[in-house]
Amino acid sequence: MEKLIINGGKPLNGDIEISGAKNAAVAILPAAIMASKGICVIDNIPQISDTECIERIIHSLGAKVKRDKNTVTIDSTTINNNDANTEDVRRMRASYYLIGALLGRFKKARVEMPGGCSIGVRPIDQHIKGFEALGAKVTIEHGAVVVEADELVGTNIYFDVVSVGATINVMLAAALAEGKTVLENAAKEPHVVDVANFLNTMGADIKGTGTDVIKINGVKELSGCNYSVIPDQIEAGTYMIAVAACGGKININNVIPKHLESITAKLVEMGVDISENGDSITVERTGEIRGVNVKTLPYPGFPTDLQQPMTTLLSIAKGRSIVNESIWESRYKHVDELKKMGANISVKNNLAIIEGVQNLSGARVRATDLRAGAAMVIAGLIANGVTEVTNIEHIDRGYPFIEKKFNALGANITREIDN
Ligand code: EPU
Repeated sequence: MEKLIINGGKPLNGDIEISGAKNAAVAILPAAIMASKGICVIDNIPQISDTECIERIIHSLGAKVKRDKNTVTIDSTTINNNDANTEDVRRMRASYYLIGALLGRFKKARVEMPGGCSIGVRPIDQHIKGFEALGAKVTIEHGAVVVEADELVGTNIYFDVVSVGATINVMLAAALAEGKTVLENAAKEPHVVDVANFLNTMGADIKGTGTDVIKINGVKELSGCNYSVIPDQIEAGTYMIAVAACGGKININNVIPKHLESITAKLVEMGVDISENGDSITVERTGEIRGVNVKTLPYPGFPTDLQQPMTTLLSIAKGRSIVNESIWESRYKHVDELKKMGANISVKNNLAIIEGVQNLSGARVRATDLRAGAAMVIAGLIANGVTEVTNIEHIDRGYPFIEKKFNALGANITREIDN
C-alpha cells in the first residue's frame, strides 16, 4: 500500500491539463464491446486504475485491447464469452455497464455484482426495471446478475429516480433493440451525453441526451469508430476547489466551462475570481473566502462527486456553511478525518454543519473512498505541517498523476510505501 506525504501551506500557481472523464470512460469502454465489426480507437481515456480494470475485464471476455498512453484500441469482434466473473468485475461499480452492453449485443449476459466506493446503499433496481421493460428476464444467481432475452423490443421507460448508471445502461441495451425506446426522467450528466455520442459514432440512433427524455431508435448492429472522451468535470472541479483553498492562480486547460457552471457559481459566491477563455478557465483566490450552503443534485446541480473536496474548502471559509448531500446516504466518511486536522464539522443525517476555522494542521488521515481521498489531499495542501494520506488506492482509481499535477503547480507531495 502507498501513501501521500504532503508538506502543506503552499499556494498553487501555473497551468494544468485536465484528463478525460472517468465516468464517461468507464461506460464508453464497455460500450465498445457492442461493435460486432471494426475496431474502436478511443482517445483521452484517463490513466487511472478504474479504466485499466475495465480494460482487463474486456480482455477477459475475449476482446483484443491495446493501450498507448491515453489511447485505447479495442477489437471486440473476437469476444466469445458473456460471463463476466473476474475479481476485477466484483471490484468496480462500473462493471454493471457490461450487463447492458452484453445484453444489447448477445441478448444474454452474466455479470458478477459490482463493487465500488462505499458511499451508501447502491441499488440497481432501475437498471433491472429498464432491462425487463425491453423484454429481458433478469435473475440474481449466486451473486451475479443474469439477463437473457429472446429479443429486445423498444418501449417507454420512466425512471423512478434520476440515475446516471441506469440511464446509460438501459441506453446501451436499447441501442440494439427492435424499434423505439423512450427513456423518461433520464440523467442529464455530460457523461451520459458523451456515451450517446460515442454510440452514435458507432452507428446508433440516439437523440435527446442532455435533456430528461432520450429517444433511441434501435439499429441492427454497431461498428468500430474513432472517438475522444470529454474532459473530466470532476477532476477540473477538484483543482478549482484546491486553488480556492490554498490561494494562488491557476489556468485549468482542456475543460468545457459549461460543465463547470454549478461549481464556478459556488466558488464565485465564496469570493473566488473565475474567468473563462475558450476551453480554459482561470481560477484565482486573492482574499478571504466566505462560507456558503451547498446542496448536491443531479446535473446541472452541484455534483455529489465534489461534495467531499468542497467540505474541505468550507472547513476554512469564514462563518458557517451547511452541506446537504442529497444523492448518497453515507458520503461523509471524510469528516472524521478532517476533524483530526482541526476542522469543526458536525454531521446530522445528510447535513454537514461546518464552522470555518482559521487553518487545518497536518495529521495522518485515511482516504476512505475516491472523492474523500481528494478531500484529504486538499486538506493536506492547506494544512500547517505534514499530512500523510493513506489508502490512496482509492485516489488512484479516479485521479491521474495526482501528485505530479499538484507538484507542477507548486505543491510538495511525495508518494511512499506505507509500512
Ligand atoms: N439509485 C437507485 N436505483 C438504481 C440506481 C440508482 O435508487 O437502480 C439511486 C442511488 O442509490 C443514488 C441515486 O439513485 O441515491 C443516484 O445514483 P446513480 O445511479 O446516478 O449513481 P451511479 O450511476 O451508481 C454514478 C457515478 C458516481 C456518482 C453518481 C451520481 C459512475 C461509475 N459513478 O454512480 O461517481 O456519484 O453517478 O452522479 O459513473 C465517483 O466518481 O466518485 C462516483 C461515486
